[in-house]
Amino acid sequence: ALTCSTALAQKDWPTRSIQLEVPFAAGGPTDSIARLIAVPMGQYLGQTVVVENVPGAGGTIASTKVARAAPDGYTIYIHHIGMATASALYDKLSYDPLTSFEYIGQVADVPMVLMGRKDLPPNNFKELEAYIKANGAKVTMANAGPGAVSQLCGLLLQSRLGVKLTNIPYKGTGPALTDLLGGQVDLLCDQTTQIIPYIKDNRVKSYGTTTLKRLPAIPNVPTLSEQGLKGFEVKAWHGVYAPKGTPQAVLDKLNAALKFALNSPDVKKRLEDSSIDVVSMDKVTPKSLKTQLENEINAWGPIIRKANIPD
Ligand code: MLT
Repeated sequence: ALTCSTALAQKDWPTRSIQLEVPFAAGGPTDSIARLIAVPMGQYLGQTVVVENVPGAGGTIASTKVARAAPDGYTIYIHHIGMATASALYDKLSYDPLTSFEYIGQVADVPMVLMGRKDLPPNNFKELEAYIKANGAKVTMANAGPGAVSQLCGLLLQSRLGVKLTNIPYKGTGPALTDLLGGQVDLLCDQTTQIIPYIKDNRVKSYGTTTLKRLPAIPNVPTLSEQGLKGFEVKAWHGVYAPKGTPQAVLDKLNAALKFALNSPDVKKRLEDSSIDVVSMDKVTPKSLKTQLENEINAWGPIIRKANIPD
């Protein structure tokens, strides 16, 4: 039963700042989307939305933290496709992606690009394929750690090519990208959120996008699918969540705040510049996010289990 004071607390919510948990390091793509939506969400709610980075173990540390947080509306959570893949990547999770959270809505679908260091010999994907087949485990591939979508992309790539490269996990995309730009690692498949300027300035080699259509921001970069990896598609879709039991009235306000943020011209422009699609408003709903999560758990589970997971 709702006591008078909790009912009042819900009516007044929010009376203080709200923490938006991010399961990856600061400076990475998930962090930058979180920070982008936090500002207009805060404006809508009349309180600051403070981003807190809780990186590690493919996002599962943050997911555990959020699942255990007080369901009072002051802790909310943004996660990407990793919410769906964790159950196939980890033997035991201390939360259940389908029952430990409330769903607020989908956010954006982020495409990815397979990149190489600037001085890696191959100049296109066909040449890269030959180079990989000739050099095998001498080729190094960065990822943002186990459970990262960059790991997932690398995993699919290696399974489609039937090779095992030397996979190097980093603590997040920030350090992985730094090493790619510095030439310390050969390959990285990364979300478009922060890499378009590097691609345009040829500070990296671009071997293909993980989308079925070319991206408006970099129309000269072919898709991997059109270069022989037919149907190769990986997108970092995002959702906003809250701990299970967060009051409905609070969830409704959070959903309205998320919609407001995604309709903000600044947010739209920033995402469009990176060829990121804000989802249509009918997807910014709890039901749509839950369906997306269920579909993706079913789609990726067998792929991950079948592929030999690179470390
Ligand atoms: C990050 O923010 O570091 C990324 O989203 C990690 C990834 O999934 O590749």
